[in-house]
Amino acid sequence: MSEQHVLEEDLRKGLWEEPATLPPRWFYDERGSRLFDEITRLPEYYQTRAEAAILGECAAELIAACRPVTVLELGSGTSTKTRILLDAWLAGGAAGDAGGREFIPIDVSAEITEEAAGQLTQAYPGLRVNPVIADFHHLPDPLPGVAGRRLLLFLGGTIGNFTEEERARFLSKVRARLAPGDHLIIGHDLVKDPARLETAYDDAAGVTAEFNLNVLDVIARTVPTAGLDRGDFRHEARWNDRQRRIEMHLVAEKPVDIAFPSLGRRRRFTEGESILTEISRKFAPGELAGDAARAGFTRERTCTDSRGDFALDLYRV
Ligand code: AVJ
Repeated sequence: MSEQHVLEEDLRKGLWEEPATLPPRWFYDERGSRLFDEITRLPEYYQTRAEAAILGECAAELIAACRPVTVLELGSGTSTKTRILLDAWLAGGAAGDAGGREFIPIDVSAEITEEAAGQLTQAYPGLRVNPVIADFHHLPDPLPGVAGRRLLLFLGGTIGNFTEEERARFLSKVRARLAPGDHLIIGHDLVKDPARLETAYDDAAGVTAEFNLNVLDVIARTVPTAGLDRGDFRHEARWNDRQRRIEMHLVAEKPVDIAFPSLGRRRRFTEGESILTEISRKFAPGELAGDAARAGFTRERTCTDSRGDFALDLYRV
């Protein structure tokens, strides 16, 4: 299906809800992926640095626990932090699997993923790097690699973007594509002071605001519209305490009326009404283990950074 059709389906499903919702995958066109990469270096956005620190501490131990032949990464982006894990993996020697090692970055953004794959091929001459352009709902089936020696990475806290049902469905789907003995590492953000969370999603330089507003450009470019003007909306990050999640909204600054001729519909927004463009759920340490267990995973380890900001869980099928 073309991008236009997929987006039209997502608009049809979410835009006339209250509040209007859009799946976060539409953030990640080339510009959005580059903006996200910039977010990971912002002083307010602690997550990437915390996760890198955990990997620095625990990579060798994690690799020793799974001894993979194939490493796959979902939502790989630039795979920058992942290099810490790849270093530990390749430093371990071939361990009887000489030459067979393969890294498979999987991401929706073709430009970023191919660029990252090229850089990884250069940096790790012994490693086969085979990128796949796909979103989380279209994972390769079967997954490449040797059963029982696969390690699937889902880093960055992206699991927080799912609703509870989406998370359960995602974990079962991943489980169905893995075999006994395979491993999964999930990075997830931890509940903390709401003020720190809100600042992490509303930085002083305005990069996150730009990242959020960029989704309106993606819509305008991908489907026919009339009356869609990104200047009519502003970015807002809100902590939802009951659901323990950050919500990113695009708030209409005045009454807005957008026509979608290919959908045969129009969406009117009152002033102050918003589009919920992303949820980013925060967890208590160990909280994910229950969901993972219901999907067929046993937790083997949890690693956190010294400040307790972020966690990595290692699971085994
Ligand atoms: C890539 C989904 C982990 O939720 O923190 C960053 C995306 N959105 N700033 C997150 C994001 C706004 C990010 N994830």
